[in-house]
Amino acid sequence: MSQTMNRKDFFRQIVEERRSIRKYDPNVKIPHEELEEMVTLATRAPSSTNLQPWKFVIIDSAEGKDKLLPLAGYNSTQVTTSSAIVAVFADTESVENLEEIYSKSVELGIMPQEVKERQVKQISAGYQTISRKQKLDVALVDNGLVSMLFMLTAKAYGYDTNPIGGYDKIHIAETFGLDKERYVPVMIIAVGKAAEEGYSSYRLPVDSVVEWH
Ligand SMILES: Cc1cc2nc3c(=O)[nH]c(=O)nc-3n(C[C@H](O)[C@H](O)[C@H](O)COP(=O)(O)O)c2cc1C
Repeated sequence: MSQTMNRKDFFRQIVEERRSIRKYDPNVKIPHEELEEMVTLATRAPSSTNLQPWKFVIIDSAEGKDKLLPLAGYNSTQVTTSSAIVAVFADTESVENLEEIYSKSVELGIMPQEVKERQVKQISAGYQTISRKQKLDVALVDNGLVSMLFMLTAKAYGYDTNPIGGYDKIHIAETFGLDKERYVPVMIIAVGKAAEEGYSSYRLPVDSVVEWH
């Protein structure tokens, strides 16, 4: 951030300059460490009871892209030219993370033991009473948040993205070796160095989407 740019302007610039890019410079490879850093930042996203119900399959090898391409339909250019495709999946069994997340919080001194015990009991009991559909609904909201944060993070790192919903959601989990009952595809996100400007896109006026009470 330059000395003259305050936090608000800086954030505004990231948000306003993000746009979907559908063609990338195929010669630019984002190093794994940098992609990992971006995903790490994205996972600062909030999630329901902090269960972090997401899984990222990062496809950046020629072999991985060959497997993805037949599933990408009209979005093939993003697959062939991007540095990587981040396939985001909602984990419908994120309750499996519960003990680790809450124990680690105690270990790190960010949560008292008694709070952990109360929360773990409450959350696991609650989880047992809800249907898979309800778990998925919760997980999908959380995955929207983490996906958006990944795209903003990528922009801040000097890259561009395209969230993609137009792909074969029936086959993607098993194509990449995931249990398709547990992991539900949310979107795939192309990330790389833009090779075109993309389009600016219209947003509805704020007073048409806001109600005040
Ligand atoms: C869930 C989701 C699915 C999308 N699917 C596609 C897609 O399959 N192909 C594509 O080119 N763009 C896709 N987009 C991008 C939208 O077209 C784009 O975000 C929208 O037009 C606004 O433009 P902007 O991202 O440049 O602000 C998708 C966006 C979202 C959020």
